[in-house]
Amino acid sequence: MAKVLVLYHSFYGHIEAMAEAVAKGAREVGGAKVEIKRVPETMPADVFAKAGGKANQAAPIAQPAELANYDAIVFGTPTRFGNMTGQMRNFLDQTGALWMSGALVGKVGSVFTSSATQHGGQESTILTFIPTLMHHGMIVVGLPYAEQRQMGLDEIKGGSPYCASTIAGASGERMPSEQELGMAAFQGKHVTTIATKLFG
Ligand SMILES: Cc1cc2nc3c(=O)[nH]c(=O)nc-3n(C[C@H](O)[C@H](O)[C@H](O)COP(=O)(O)O)c2cc1C
Repeated sequence: MAKVLVLYHSFYGHIEAMAEAVAKGAREVGGAKVEIKRVPETMPADVFAKAGGKANQAAPIAQPAELANYDAIVFGTPTRFGNMTGQMRNFLDQTGALWMSGALVGKVGSVFTSSATQHGGQESTILTFIPTLMHHGMIVVGLPYAEQRQMGLDEIKGGSPYCASTIAGASGERMPSEQELGMAAFQGKHVTTIATKLFG
């Protein structure tokens, strides 16, 4: 059975909500074993508290070496200046031993994101994340247009062929919409279906 990890960093909770939706979709694939974990928060505690970071996140903290235990990993990160967060980067920069041994070669990798604004990193965050997955030899999976909600103009929303995404608003006032959560679930199911075909 395919083993899937949803691995995320979330500062204010938007990616946390998206991660739960990704996992929900992944669990729709019969027999799949799906876990949600997060990367360690690296921001100093006083800065974290002053910025209003969300401390009560239930997902356990992952260790870099654990990535080798999964067939597919779906990475979730908010955007920081159009790239992944430093917290996610820091975690990935500790996967050198996995790279050396080729531990992730042939596994499925996928990414989802969140940005404050419509055009502030929805695509660039994913497109700049993908080289790391490719250096690890992972098979990169996005969000195909079979998930048609990404095409609708009925609401301002995330979602692209590269990934599910959400638009959090300038103050983080907007939580993921039903459609964005639906796209996240679709991506989770899509990744898990492919991983099951490869490894199940
Ligand atoms: C230092 C910093 C840089 C950010 N850079 C961007 C950016 O380039 N574009 C954007 O739209 N939002 C940017 N944001 C907003 C975050 O992406 C937003 O808070 C996040 O997507 C919310 O997800 P979370 O609740 O899971 O943390 C930035 C936020 C911070 C703190």
